[in-house]
Parts: sequence; C-alpha cells; structure tokens
Amino acid sequence: MKIGIIGAGNIGATLARRLSAQKHEIKLANSKSPDTLTDLARDVGATAVTKEDAVANVEVIIVAIPFASYPDLADLFRTVPEKVIVVDTSNYYPFRDGAIAEVEGGKPESVWVSEQIDRSVVKAWNAVLAATLAERGKHSAETDRIAIPVAGEDSEAKSVVMGLVEATGFDAVDSGDLLSSWRQQPGTPAYCTELSAEQLRVALDAADQARAAGNRETLIKQFMEAGTTISHDDMVAWNRAGTA
Ligand SMILES: NC(=O)c1ccc[n+]([C@@H]2O[C@H](COP(=O)([O-])OP(=O)(O)OC[C@H]3O[C@@H](n4cnc5c(N)ncnc54)[C@H](OP(=O)(O)O)[C@@H]3O)[C@@H](O)[C@H]2O)c1
Repeated sequence: MKIGIIGAGNIGATLARRLSAQKHEIKLANSKSPDTLTDLARDVGATAVTKEDAVANVEVIIVAIPFASYPDLADLFRTVPEKVIVVDTSNYYPFRDGAIAEVEGGKPESVWVSEQIDRSVVKAWNAVLAATLAERGKHSAETDRIAIPVAGEDSEAKSVVMGLVEATGFDAVDSGDLLSSWRQQPGTPAYCTELSAEQLRVALDAADQARAAGNRETLIKQFMEAGTTISHDDMVAWNRAGTA
C-alpha cells in the first residue's frame, strides 16, 4: 500500500521500517523540512517528504506525533479525500501535552484527535512500547505473538489497519469503536503490557475508566524516578502490576 507517516520519531520511524520491510511504499515526514530526514528515511526504507506530500496520493496516513500537536494538522487534513484511512498512534500525557480539559473530563483521546482534524481515525499501535514494536514483532506463523488493539468506527478501515498491524509482526485485536477506545489508553491493563490476543481481550474487558488516569500518573512518576535504570521487561511488568 501507499502509506504516508507524519512523525519520524520512536513510533513513526519504527513503523516506517517495519512496513517498508513488508514492501509497503512509505513516505515519512516530520515537522521540519525533508532534508532533516534524508539519512533516517534511507535507513528505514522510506522517502523523506514534507507533511503536505505525506498526505498526498496515499491510501493510509499514520500520525505518530505528540498528542498536543494534533491541532497543528487541522488545515493539512482538509484536502485529504474521505476514503484515505487515518491512523492515530498517540497517547495523552499531561506532563508532556499540558492538561486538555475535554480529555481530563473523560473524552476518549482518539475522539478528541478526530475532532481536531475533523475526520474519523483508527486507533492503533498506541498501546505498544516503541521498543516492543522495534524488537518483538514475529512472523504470523509463530504462535506466541504479542497482540495490539485496534479501535475505530469504520469496519472496512479497521480491517485494513488490522492487516497492517499484522504486517508489523503482531496479532491485531478488534477493540471496538472510538468511544470505547479509552480501554487501550495509558493506565489500563491493555496498555503496553505485551499480552497475547486472548489475554488482551480479557484486559480490554477488565479496564476501569475511573482508575485509568490515576494509574497513568502513578506509573509515569515511577518511570521518571527510575530513569534509565529500568529494563524493558521491568517496564512491562510495572505496567501490568500498576493496572491489575
Ligand atoms: N514512544 C513510545 O514508546 C510510544 C508508544 C506508543 C505510542 N506512542 C505515541 O506516539 C506518538 C509519537 O511518539 P514518539 O515516541 O514517536 O515521539 P517522538 O520520538 O518525540 O517523535 C515525534 C515526531 O513527531 C514529529 N512532530 C511533532 N509535531 C509535529 C507536527 N506538528 N507536524 C509534523 N510532525 C510533528 C516530530 O518531528 P520533529 O522532530 O521535526 O519535531 C517527531 O518526528 C505520541 O503521541 C506517543 O504518545 C509512543
């Protein structure tokens, strides 16, 4: 497929690498000029472009930018045809994004995102650590794959994105519509806990909206205090323990 990725950091560049390895045609953009991305794009098998070019003549657009940067993209999406699928990978962290009243009031993050760019989105790859995405994907023939939740309103669009999630080396689990996508936000048992598909379905069901934001804040404080001393496996274990 022809895919534009906006955001070339931990998630955007990793998705570019994994999807280009599966023969998808990837255009990659950041907030600056493509010159700043030439080496990275070559390394991950993508073409460095402007944001405007990333959303032109593609079938899927993946947005991998900080949550609070979405309002910057409102104009960009006005020209994008409705049939183009837009994927939101973001998560809301008040310490980084500032407090956003509607989200603090309980609006699911991807609903807020879809309002900023005035179009429906599919939420995917938000609930997986960048290092998991980079290093723990497996071929579909393997039986012990990690699963990733995928939420959205449009079942056709969701099915395409689930196929792309599978292509990145993970089982895709349909997690419902955007209104229920709070079940895969930070502070829930589905978030960055490296579960199998069966375990992920149980975790999505077990999510408690009243506890999620508090869990998120406790965990982020723990991670910040631990700094670089925490291993990847500990991070996953803390996420599991902190949301159980
Ligand atoms: N890191 C993780 O483990 C992880 C896991 C799951 C989901 N996520 C979510 O995925 C999103 C991206 O995270 P990340 O860790 O990949 O972030 P990151 O490494 O900081 O990269 C952010 C990228 O977004 C670009 N960007 C920022 N504002 C932009 C704008 N207005 N227009 C175009 N590009 C813009 C930045 O470009 P410049 O360099 O030019 O500023 C950069 O390439 C976040 O919402 C995060 O919560 C992260």
